[in-house]
Amino acid sequence: MKKIIIEGGTRLIGDVSISGSKNSALPLFAASILCQGFNFFYNVPNLRDVVTIQKVLENLGVQLTRKGDGSVRVDSSGLSGDEAPYDLVKTMRASILVLGPLVARRGKAVVSLPGGCAIGARPVNLHLRGLEVLGAKIELKHGYIFAKADRLRGGHIYLDIPTVTGTENLMMAATLARGVTIIENAAQEPEITELAIVLKRMGAKISGEGTSVLRVEGVDELHGGEHTIMPDRIEAGTFMVAAALTQGNLRLLNCPLSNLEALVNKLREAGIEIYSDGKAVKVIGNNRIRSVDVKTLPYPGFPTDMQAQIMVLMCLARGLSVITETIFENRFIHVSELRRMGADIKIESNSAIVTGVKQLSGAQVMATDLRASASLVLAGLAAEGVTEVARVYHLDRGYENLESKLSQVGAKIRRV
Ligand code: EPU
Repeated sequence: MKKIIIEGGTRLIGDVSISGSKNSALPLFAASILCQGFNFFYNVPNLRDVVTIQKVLENLGVQLTRKGDGSVRVDSSGLSGDEAPYDLVKTMRASILVLGPLVARRGKAVVSLPGGCAIGARPVNLHLRGLEVLGAKIELKHGYIFAKADRLRGGHIYLDIPTVTGTENLMMAATLARGVTIIENAAQEPEITELAIVLKRMGAKISGEGTSVLRVEGVDELHGGEHTIMPDRIEAGTFMVAAALTQGNLRLLNCPLSNLEALVNKLREAGIEIYSDGKAVKVIGNNRIRSVDVKTLPYPGFPTDMQAQIMVLMCLARGLSVITETIFENRFIHVSELRRMGADIKIESNSAIVTGVKQLSGAQVMATDLRASASLVLAGLAAEGVTEVARVYHLDRGYENLESKLSQVGAKIRRV
């Protein structure tokens, strides 16, 4: 099995280019099902999760052609299937994103129920309840969701929790419904706004994107279009923390700064210098990290996908910080591994109480989640000695060329 080996202690200095957003690419690919023709997407990250959604679509008869320049042509004219099978959904929960588009376009969908995952139970009840409001008949049998509707009809959906993929699924389904759909307490993540922009280019009638109330007026059909996927805010945030941890000086190219306000505020409060020089975002670390408290919240709050990474920074801060996770019930998987590297962290219910230490020490570690794995790489970059991170495939789900990007700015990192 592959491992990443890091010799810690080098300052990271130089330019890093941020790749296209994983969590934008996934719903955009699923949205292609809604149209009869083809879509072109540019700046598509080459990641395991993107390959998985490609397989889900190919299994439905959609043709995808990737070119070396990072563009992908998605041709839905041959859409002929209705099923997202267990084998694909079990490798990536976000495969559920084809549910709404399939019912809307084909009148039928058979999608494996995603199980729980390392970070929490992650049910999809709100996706299903929303589709029922739009007139779909839903049955759960043999581990699968069977959804049917001759044609969806507009309805008033209130989401108990502002679920990200749930909002995306329902917004996509509503584009082809008869009449108007209102989604209240919708999630407001930038990836949802981007999806709405692309759907509108495809002919959908949507307003309210980026707010908690979405209005979708259904149309009879959508057409294809083209779009350049925005840069990945979580990859950018992870490199910001890498610079902060190594007293580095990184220039992040294609950095979506306006989508990172909650993180940038916390990093500045911790004493990290961050500013934009017009072309790039500069992040400059130092050896006097201040402790800050962090609470994860739906966007525009602090992203749960950056909680593990900022915790590593707090492990080396002066004083005590309290990090509270409110989105997922089991997102502290990295804590026991960080402790093995010398971190002082106590868990009390959904809070981690982190007391800064002078130094972390390299160790053999592993994690069962993408962002937890990223946090262990960050810890390895800052630690004294050698760190070996196992189960590298988690990183490949969401970080494009992580080792080569890090080694280009001076990290001693390799994959064996
Ligand atoms: N929830 C329900 N019922 C539902 C849907 C969600 O109870 O029907 C709960 C979840 O269990 C969780 C909370 O609502 O406690 C929020 O979950 P959400 O549905 O918003 O998460 P998601 O859509 O499954 C997306 C991202 C995650 C990111 C979360 C939160 C994609 C493909 N995935 O997941 O990204 O952590 O939103 O921001 O967009 C990652 O990239 O590493 C990642 C896990």
